Amino acid sequence: MHFSSLFITAAVGIAGINAQTQYTATNTASVEAARATAKTLSPTSSVKGKTFDRFVNIFLENTDFDMASADPNLQWIASQGITLTNYKAITHPSQPNYIASVGGSTHSVIWDLYSRISSSARTIVDLLDAAGVSWSEYEDDMPYSGYEADYINQVNGANDYVRKHNPLMSYDSVTSDLDRLAKMKNLTMFYNDLDSNKLPQWMFITPNMTNDGHDTSVTVAGAWAKGFLEPLLTNPNFLSRTLVLLTFDETANYLSDNTVFSVLFGDAVPESLHGTTNDTAYNHYSIMSTVENNWDLGDLGEGDADASAFF
Ligand SMILES: *[C@@H]1O[C@H](CO)[C@@H](O)[C@H](O)[C@H]1NC(C)=O
Ligand SMILES: *[C@@H]1O[C@H](CO)[C@@H](O)[C@H](O)[C@H]1NC(C)=O
Ligand SMILES: *[C@@H]1O[C@H](CO)[C@@H](O)[C@H](O)[C@H]1NC(C)=O
Repeated sequence: MHFSSLFITAAVGIAGINAQTQYTATNTASVEAARATAKTLSPTSSVKGKTFDRFVNIFLENTDFDMASADPNLQWIASQGITLTNYKAITHPSQPNYIASVGGSTHSVIWDLYSRISSSARTIVDLLDAAGVSWSEYEDDMPYSGYEADYINQVNGANDYVRKHNPLMSYDSVTSDLDRLAKMKNLTMFYNDLDSNKLPQWMFITPNMTNDGHDTSVTVAGAWAKGFLEPLLTNPNFLSRTLVLLTFDETANYLSDNTVFSVLFGDAVPESLHGTTNDTAYNHYSIMSTVENNWDLGDLGEGDADASAFF
């Protein structure tokens, strides 16, 4: 633990929270104005991978393995692919798990408060960009592409889009680049990109605070996941040797060993493996090592360098 970097994070955090609260609570008009001019990019590419040509990552929230594996909708998803029974989150609470999944490190972030990671810290998108592999994030209920604060439901004030569940948003190396911000989009844009056959090769999808189970339950999250994914699994614009990883950011029980329910599915998973389990030790860093191995991207020399890849 580096105390100097923690201290800096804390100072930025306090300033950030004030800015964020003002923005979400009062500035609806400025959101409307910014929406009209927000830059949006939908890059595509077709870099051939070893095992898959498209990777889709979805995180649900705060559920123990046993609770998730007992949910009928998540059981349906498990029947479509391989359930990883020894897959662990990195830490608690939520935010450092998201941060770790794209950067190979928690970068000393130990909380859910507004955090910024120095521009010297690289992420998976540096490796993807270097190899010409297109990427985007799809953040449910983000009001416009590249929006950097939190956003509440404008009718009932409920939590909706939260920055802490957007894995790339805490990295200055991402947010300092307008073209990178323009690839952080909402689910409206997901459906636009899907319909126009312009989905990227790497994507991260964050459901809103209702749909991911955070403010609700695994029952709601499971129903959202099946409802969202079932039509996609027969959509040729989605399937393109596509590998989907559905997992949870962390367990609800902080005293457990943080084993989270995780399923690999999509047309990149052979039918002979549907409904099977795999007890190899994986964790959120395996996400990066799998993607890096698939497209020969090299690694960041962080947690990604040591983690086992799924394939
Ligand atoms: C999603 O983002 C687009 C692009 O910035 C924006 O035009 C649209 O209004 C957003 N949709 C919602 C539901 O906020
Ligand atoms: C989250 O999205 C669903 C639609 O998928 C919507 O019904 C719900 O109101 C949203 N939650 C909030 C808090 O806006
Ligand atoms: C599952 O486990 C074996 C090791 O027994 C491993 O070789 C294989 O690639 C694993 N991964 C998947 C996703 O099936």
